[in-house]
Amino acid sequence: MSKKRIVVLTGAGVSAESGIKTFRDSGGLWEEYDIMDVATPEAWERNRDLVMEFYNQRRKQLYEVEPNAAHYALAELEKDYDVRIITQNVDDLHERAGSTHVMHLHGEMKKVRSSVDENLVYTLDGWELKPGDQCEKGSQLRPHIVWFGEPVHMIPAAAELSATADIYVIIGTSLNVYPAAGLVDYVRPGTPVYLIDPAKPGAIHIPKFTFIQEKASTGTKKLVEEYL
Ligand code: APR
Repeated sequence: MSKKRIVVLTGAGVSAESGIKTFRDSGGLWEEYDIMDVATPEAWERNRDLVMEFYNQRRKQLYEVEPNAAHYALAELEKDYDVRIITQNVDDLHERAGSTHVMHLHGEMKKVRSSVDENLVYTLDGWELKPGDQCEKGSQLRPHIVWFGEPVHMIPAAAELSATADIYVIIGTSLNVYPAAGLVDYVRPGTPVYLIDPAKPGAIHIPKFTFIQEKASTGTKKLVEEYL
């Protein structure tokens, strides 16, 4: 018999217990930085050094943190389920925990790409992207991140995947950012939806779901032990 498919949509909250800041919680990254200064194509045009430095610092931190119990539990679930992860996160903690199907909606921190040809993507050697680092076409390399105002190319594939779920799980996202937050609209009616988050996301518009009001680590454990 084929395994049931669990599609998991994750956000910054799944990595919070690894020590990575979320964006919109109190003390989150968007309290410290203005999105318009570091995470838009306009910011890149205006102040490349600042944008590079912002992502360099976060990339450096990524080498210092480890996956947490939630990442490991999701990897472990592959023994019994066909687990597909759709993440808004740009860290690689799902992969490092052992998950084998991870779709990154908003890019990947450890990768960089050409600023003239978005198909030229490279894995950066180390944490630091420097002014003058160039792609093979001679243009400055930029972070491989989907900035505000840029298209999210993975959305059609993620929507299609969401429609194949037998079980849908949402972990650690405020569901504030579209189009990612709209993926749940593609889940087939009647599919059980579980939401794991210590705080109920204000932006939630899902008709029916089971709310596991816990941190990602304990919430994922509870999901596996009590609901699956
Ligand atoms: N476990 C689970 N959830 C947590 C935890 C935790 N330990 N700590 C905080 N959270 C929850 C918060 O309650 C909130 O609902 O994680 C969510 C974080 O929300 P955001 O900071 O808005 O992060 P996210 O939803 O991933 O942001 C989406 O916005 O800035 C962009 O591109 C960036 O991918 C990001 C997108």
